[in-house]
Amino acid sequence: MTQGVQGQFDRLLGPVTFAGLPVRNRLVVAPMTRVSATADGQPTPRMTEYYRDFAEGGFCLIISEGIYTDKAFSQGYLHQPGLTDDAQIAGWSDVTAAVHRAGGKIIAQLMHAGALSQGNPHRDEAVGPSAVQPKGEQMAFYRGEGPYRVPREISLAEIEEAIAGFSQAAINAKLAGFDGCEVHGANGYLLDQFLTEGVNVRTDIYGGETASRAGLIQKVIEAVRKGVGPDFIVGVRISQAKVNDFEHRWRGGEADAAIVFKMVKDAGADYVHSTQFEAWRPAFDEDGPSLAALAKHHSGLPVIANGSLHEAQWAEDMVANGQADLVSLGRGSLTHSDFPARLRSREPIETFDPGIFTPLANLSSDDQYRRLVASEAD
Ligand SMILES: Cc1cc2nc3c(=O)[nH]c(=O)nc-3n(C[C@H](O)[C@H](O)[C@H](O)COP(=O)(O)O)c2cc1C
Repeated sequence: MTQGVQGQFDRLLGPVTFAGLPVRNRLVVAPMTRVSATADGQPTPRMTEYYRDFAEGGFCLIISEGIYTDKAFSQGYLHQPGLTDDAQIAGWSDVTAAVHRAGGKIIAQLMHAGALSQGNPHRDEAVGPSAVQPKGEQMAFYRGEGPYRVPREISLAEIEEAIAGFSQAAINAKLAGFDGCEVHGANGYLLDQFLTEGVNVRTDIYGGETASRAGLIQKVIEAVRKGVGPDFIVGVRISQAKVNDFEHRWRGGEADAAIVFKMVKDAGADYVHSTQFEAWRPAFDEDGPSLAALAKHHSGLPVIANGSLHEAQWAEDMVANGQADLVSLGRGSLTHSDFPARLRSREPIETFDPGIFTPLANLSSDDQYRRLVASEAD
């Protein structure tokens, strides 16, 4: 099914400077785990092509898939890439060079899976803020099966190691030629687990009130900033919903948003990447501001908004009315790696087909699916 492209997209398609980085438009590729690295976490030549295609298709900026940050508890999925050793840095250097040659920019998303880890060759247990079994089931398209394991409560010493892992991975991202890094504080992974009541039932400095539960996000941003210095972009991704709990909302509503977004700004973040299912909808009640608008208001930082913004008129409106500086597309960029070029020339936009994730969300399944569709069209 195709969606007509009507309307004006002058703001979406015009150049801007974002967090000090000059970019050619406002359209960003959202971070997407594709479990296509080698077994020991090195990006492959196929991944270099995959990322290069988005830059060639006109996206101004790519946020990489979530990259694991240490060889302890951070890895979430088998064949997830890392940024923890020289071979991984070398693989990413090929990716960043290809993206830059095609006129794009790329930011590394740094991710610790915590209790949601379902495939980690470095450890045979998962850790989380508390020994609380995650809701939901492991993701089959990332090679998981059945309920999540009950994590072990991470110790204070292990928390320090996890923080150091983020910092070192950020330094490695800089070495690999990335234009910045994004701390993954969203979607139910370790940092978001700490933020979440009921998942975090600790009684030490990391548990209790919202500000204490957000303390790990704050410490990670501070450590990353210290590691990379002032001249490297450091962003943070924040959501209410989780991959294993789509409906979750912060109990404190806008008061929680104010605490979290102010803390990330004070910790030294350069931007916030907010995500909710439909980015333009109110974050809490029937009406009221979106999460992106709250991020902007309470942090004062530039914001990337995410969530169903392949609906380009919503994207244009969010930028035009000041709720977002950039917009990121997940499904839209997978449907069309040349989405910006299509928007510019008013070519049709197809509806996303989840068939590309069958049986796995990796690039082999994707290639197979596209070959099948092409052969059916012949
Ligand atoms: C296959 C897949 C993998 C994803 N992996 C990540 C990830 O590694 N990090 C992250 O922050 N979000 C991840 N997401 C969420 C997307 O970044 C995005 O928030 C989601 O697709 C909604 O945006 P959309 O409506 O534009 O598709 C993933 C989404 C998909 C479909």
